[in-house]
Amino acid sequence: MQRIFSGIQPTGVPQLGNYLGAIRNWVRLQNDHECIFSLVDMHAITMFQDPATLREQTRAQTAVLLASGIDPKAHILFNQSQVSAHARLGWIFTCVVRLGWLNRMTQFKDKAGKDRENHSAGLYTYPALMAADILAYKATRVPVGDDQRQHLELANDIAQKFNHDYGTDFFPQIEAVIPPVSARVMSLRDGTKKMSKSDPSEQSRIEMTDDADAIALKLRRARTDPEPLPSEIAGLEGRAEARNLVGIYAALAGLSAEEVLARHGGEGFGPFKAALTEVVVDTVAPIAAETRRLLADTAHLDAMLRDGARRAAALADPIVAEAEALVGF
Ligand code: ADP
Ligand code: NA
Repeated sequence: MQRIFSGIQPTGVPQLGNYLGAIRNWVRLQNDHECIFSLVDMHAITMFQDPATLREQTRAQTAVLLASGIDPKAHILFNQSQVSAHARLGWIFTCVVRLGWLNRMTQFKDKAGKDRENHSAGLYTYPALMAADILAYKATRVPVGDDQRQHLELANDIAQKFNHDYGTDFFPQIEAVIPPVSARVMSLRDGTKKMSKSDPSEQSRIEMTDDADAIALKLRRARTDPEPLPSEIAGLEGRAEARNLVGIYAALAGLSAEEVLARHGGEGFGPFKAALTEVVVDTVAPIAAETRRLLADTAHLDAMLRDGARRAAALADPIVAEAEALVGF
């Protein structure tokens, strides 16, 4: 069975885009892969995080993953900072990666913007740690969104240079796993921006901890245009908000956008939003309820994460020890 590594930052409350774009795929990958899932708290602090909030959000993310169907016994779920192999291999890779390679990373440019000098060195060298996250387990498959493709290519460049520099074929090449349907969910307030847990407006997103009332209210307030829904896809042209709501309906109901429009074309947004609310509540409300139940017992969550970290370390420690020996440590 092929080994998968995937990480998610424990910053903010997971939103519907995280669920449809990442978490739901993770749940499916468990069927035919050996999965290692990590709350990457070391990546989170590349931007300052309030310590109590980081701790709280690590638990909240863990609870949402469990409530969504991640199986911590058949697979591994842990937070990155608890397994020292990440930091150890991350440092070696920081010394392997070239400054010129890091300079080409578009995500750093996007995140740092014009104020480059004022960001942490960690934000800049982040891709070296990301390569270590994967290769500490010699994982060969990584589910990634489009935004992470460049970092994955860099991870392969780092592995190749390590192998070349130390005269070995120790690290394998990594392959991206592209989800079969890549649902991109947009903001409820602005159809041109992706839904994000870091968007300042809470009205812009469905959080995976929202109850039915909160979901209904957010969808009622979601931005739309005055036209009724078209009965064919072509009629969504230039209507980002309408397209997004149809896309969310389709992704959650397991339908194509065409099928959604065949059923709801001609409806105004009043009735369509009511139908959409039902579909969203069907998926999100049970996950939210289970998340709240899990969060009521933090000792149990912490024990589960510790168990995950122990099992992750058992896999990573021998691999990283061998890499350290190759380096001359
Ligand atoms: P956020 O923008 O909410 O902070 P992250 O950058 O932490 O999300 O991404 C976590 C995972 O969720 C990634 O795999 C990313 O591709 C996916 N993801 C995030 N937002 C969306 C979205 N709006 N639509 C689809 N997938 C998303
Ligand atoms: Na983010």
